Amino acid sequence: MSAFLQNAWYMAAWSSELADGILARQLLNSPMVFWRCQDGSVAAIDDRCPHRFAPLSRGTKLGDTIQCGYHGLIFDASGSCVRNPHGRRPQGNVRAYPCFEQDNMIWFWAGEPARANPALIPRFPLNTDVRYRFVSGHSRVAAHYELVTDNLLDLSHTAHIHPAFGGADWEAKQTLVCKGQTVHSVYVIKSFPIPAFFKAMVTPAFASQVNEWDDLRWNAPATMYLFTEFGAADADRKTALWVPSAHVLTPETAASTHYFWASGVGRESSLSDEVHRQFLVKAFEQEDMPMIEAVQKSMGGSELTSLRPILLPADRAAMRARQILSRLIAEEQGTGPASQLGVEKPSVPD
Ligand code: FES
Ligand SMILES: [Fe+2]
Repeated sequence: MSAFLQNAWYMAAWSSELADGILARQLLNSPMVFWRCQDGSVAAIDDRCPHRFAPLSRGTKLGDTIQCGYHGLIFDASGSCVRNPHGRRPQGNVRAYPCFEQDNMIWFWAGEPARANPALIPRFPLNTDVRYRFVSGHSRVAAHYELVTDNLLDLSHTAHIHPAFGGADWEAKQTLVCKGQTVHSVYVIKSFPIPAFFKAMVTPAFASQVNEWDDLRWNAPATMYLFTEFGAADADRKTALWVPSAHVLTPETAASTHYFWASGVGRESSLSDEVHRQFLVKAFEQEDMPMIEAVQKSMGGSELTSLRPILLPADRAAMRARQILSRLIAEEQGTGPASQLGVEKPSVPD
């Protein structure tokens, strides 16, 4: 399996997970600790004290700093030791990570701090739209994050493992749209029996047959936004309802993934937050996850293309995303072809 892209923003948590406390989380193989400073900004440093390597997340937040719970060294948001209660001058530093919070999400930059530009973080504007009620969650998947991306970019599996979202009647016409390094996996499903999820959103049911339009946007390394519209099969698309959802993946290790998900319905929807959450947990944790984890085991840690998979038309978006990501990683590691590194070719006549 490939290395992780370093110069990239990764989602660390939902804002609600951190609140005012301390959050410990393993991300990209590194144990990290997050806390909120007094000005509201988020700090993140390695979760390992340089003295006897106690997890700093077992310590205490003191203003804008964190105090190790073992022998009391204090570290600030830059990772510098700012106080040593044992009388000597402060000693030792830990690695700090640039953080940024927007759209109810906390992101960290895994690479060179000088290159951390928050304008590069894909936006999720509807996450904070007051016309929607969102439910969100965090699931841990025992599989490489690209296998989870594959699952999301190829929604044809809906016909086989998600009965409440379409089941066997979900016959999608898929289109791949690439805009620069952004991949859109676009689906149109015409005139199929209203699935249980849509039925629960509007009571009494407004139609027995519905149309659905999905635009699933992918940005490297694994940030996805699914914009779903659905409406009565015999009505104008302008009357369709919107269901925006976020699907953001951050590697925990090479074989496990943090899956941050959220889904919104109109504030007036008949779907309660509790039932909405039950639909999603069932789909993600009881239907998707067991299959993806079984695939991970079946592949035995091998890289996908090395196993020479049969590719189906519905794989196009996932394979495009994999190509872009592997090119970005190769460029970062200096192993990509020169033409991809922006190096000018010498002009040698044919
Ligand atoms: S392990 Fe942190 S101060 Fe000793
Ligand atoms: Fe799924």
